[in-house]
Amino acid sequence: MSATHAASAKSSKGRRTRRTGRRDPLAISLLKKDHREVEAMFDEYEQLEDDREKLALFQQIALALKVHTQIEEEIFYPAERGEVEDDLLDEALVEHDGAKKLIAEIEAMQPSDELYDAKVKVLGEYIKHHVKEEEQPGGVFAQAKRGDEDLNAMGERLEARKEELMASMGGQSLS
Ligand SMILES: [Fe+2]
Ligand SMILES: [Fe+2]
Repeated sequence: MSATHAASAKSSKGRRTRRTGRRDPLAISLLKKDHREVEAMFDEYEQLEDDREKLALFQQIALALKVHTQIEEEIFYPAERGEVEDDLLDEALVEHDGAKKLIAEIEAMQPSDELYDAKVKVLGEYIKHHVKEEEQPGGVFAQAKRGDEDLNAMGERLEARKEELMASMGGQSLS
């Protein structure tokens, strides 16, 4: 975890975005990195046959999503009220709630249950939609980058809170 933190702190100016070549501030690069990681886990899930592996991977996906949505809800979204259109932030919160309900349903099931794979698949599609709303041109991240909030400083707070939540909710880092 300390190595991950050091690497992230080192790249505090963020990474270059594919579209513009300009660097994202730390808050945005950190949240996008979470998005890529969870997308990769959903892709990996599709390849699995073994129920024990499915359960283990879903537990990782659930932890990553819970921590990510919580740091957005505690730190990013509230700070962006006034910078990002209210409708977009409200819809993002409703989508988080929808995802949490689906996660809870899946957590109450076993991988051998009939609709388990289908629910994981639908959760993945739901998250893909939500991530697009955050990352697309004119979306939450684009509006946040045009605002006055210091997104590099916020990135440090997001990172610290993520570490805390990973430790308390999961007991270990995913990366
Ligand atoms: Fe979100
Ligand atoms: Fe997000």
